[in-house]
Amino acid sequence: MAPQESSSSESAATPAVAAVVVLAAGQGTRMRSSTPKVLHTLGGRSLLGHVLAAAAPLSAGTTVVVVGAGRDQVEAHLGEIAPGALAVVQEQQLGSGHAAEVALTAVPDLDGSVLVVNGDSPLLTTRTLTALVAAHDAAGSVFTVLTAEVDDPTGLGRIVRDGSGAPQAIVEERDATAEQRAIREVNAGVYVADAATLRRVLAGVGTANSQGEQYLTDALAPLVGEGAPTAAVRADDPDDVLGCNDRRELAERRRTLNDRVLDDLMRAGVTVIDPQTTWVDVTATAGPDAVLQPGTQLLGSTTVASGAVVGPDSTLVDCTVEAGATVLRSHCLGAVIGPEATVGPFSYLRPGTRLARGSKVGGFVETKNVEVGEGSKIPHLSYVGDATIGRGSNIGAATVFVNYDGVAKHRTTVGDHARIGSDTMLVAPVTIGDGAYTAAGSVITSDVPPGAMGVARGPQRNVAGWVRRRRPGTPAAEAAAAAEQRADAPGDLGVHDDDEGQLTR
Ligand code: UD1
Ligand code: CA
Repeated sequence: MAPQESSSSESAATPAVAAVVVLAAGQGTRMRSSTPKVLHTLGGRSLLGHVLAAAAPLSAGTTVVVVGAGRDQVEAHLGEIAPGALAVVQEQQLGSGHAAEVALTAVPDLDGSVLVVNGDSPLLTTRTLTALVAAHDAAGSVFTVLTAEVDDPTGLGRIVRDGSGAPQAIVEERDATAEQRAIREVNAGVYVADAATLRRVLAGVGTANSQGEQYLTDALAPLVGEGAPTAAVRADDPDDVLGCNDRRELAERRRTLNDRVLDDLMRAGVTVIDPQTTWVDVTATAGPDAVLQPGTQLLGSTTVASGAVVGPDSTLVDCTVEAGATVLRSHCLGAVIGPEATVGPFSYLRPGTRLARGSKVGGFVETKNVEVGEGSKIPHLSYVGDATIGRGSNIGAATVFVNYDGVAKHRTTVGDHARIGSDTMLVAPVTIGDGAYTAAGSVITSDVPPGAMGVARGPQRNVAGWVRRRRPGTPAAEAAAAAEQRADAPGDLGVHDDDEGQLTR
């Protein structure tokens, strides 16, 4: 199961906070992107989406997202992923402390604890946030910061503790002394605070730092000075707190997240042949004894049932793969692949494709908006769109379901146990009855009744001696002459026209 889901199942035991505030107004200059940083994606969600998913089980109701840079895009995205969240605009990005202040101003009646989270920490888990809130409550703290011991603290705020280990201050790297820079315990950018206390202390936080910004991190020291109870709590897994400021970090976070998802899958009984080249979104799942071959991507809401085999080199977006099905070197979007069905190699399944039990879609076949009945086969080189195909039917190689007349789409119905000859054009709307056949190479424009053979093609004509006359001296002419000399050629039969022969071929 994906980690987000397993962590949200802990929600029953989760201590609640009165509100969650996500800081997402920054431009994210270091991304060098026209897309706001928090909208960059990994593992099937935006950075912001991951933070909101991790925090969702803790919120008693109010979720505030501070937006600014690219706010139209961020607000539109929020409307999709968290319509209940309140977007609050920070007109000018004057710092993380200012952003938190703007958020609290938007919910003036809020009291109790508030969880404030940077919008660019996609590896945060509900478990870590829950532990932080529990520690805050247990300590009777008014301001608690999440921290981590990291090997390389470059660029991060350092946690300064006194001799007894009590937190004293958070110092940004660019404002830190050499001694402080040596500290490897860093600020995760996640805080739990008493809302009223935070409001009060932020009002007094100035901008006397190297960036001239109002830092949220500067809320700690004055509270310590007052003798208020504060805490700094280390995360169990230092990966949880890693932020994402540029594309390289984004790639690293994506890899870590993917490793976590694959670890969960493998623990649950999924075989992952090559974790390095297998990518599974946090929203996708696979069941026990499913096999993911190298180069597999399970994206979006994809589910792969027990015993199904996907890959190598297959991408599934929002697909359902049922038990025992096989998908080999294929690209599938919004498809339902029934039990024991086989897909590929080199199939392209588009949305609305539903393959019933034991059906087959083979090499170089594209399908869209089609129901394929139990045991039916589309083995080779076909386009099948807007159709219903019954049970036990066979669609011959290079068949095209001609579904579009340039203005509208039309449906084709193929009954049970029908046989569509190779290279048939089925010009929709058209119905092929149960047990009906079509002759290879036919252009079928009207219905074929049950049990009938639909033939719609020109009769064959053989022009005897044509090669000898029109292509003299070619290897073909020489081969023909040799065959005639051996007297095993049909000779000068003229036009060959045998309807019954064509129908049975
Ligand atoms: C911040 C912390 C740092 C911590 C690090 C963890 C501050 C001053 N520093 O640094 O101690 O180690 O996170 O990753 O907070 N934002 C706004 N409005 C603003 C400025 C920022 O909404 O005016 C948001 C950003 O969108 C971002 C978050 O606040 O989500 C943090 O800002 P960012 O610039 O990324 O801070 P860091 O330098 O990473
Ligand atoms: Ca950051």
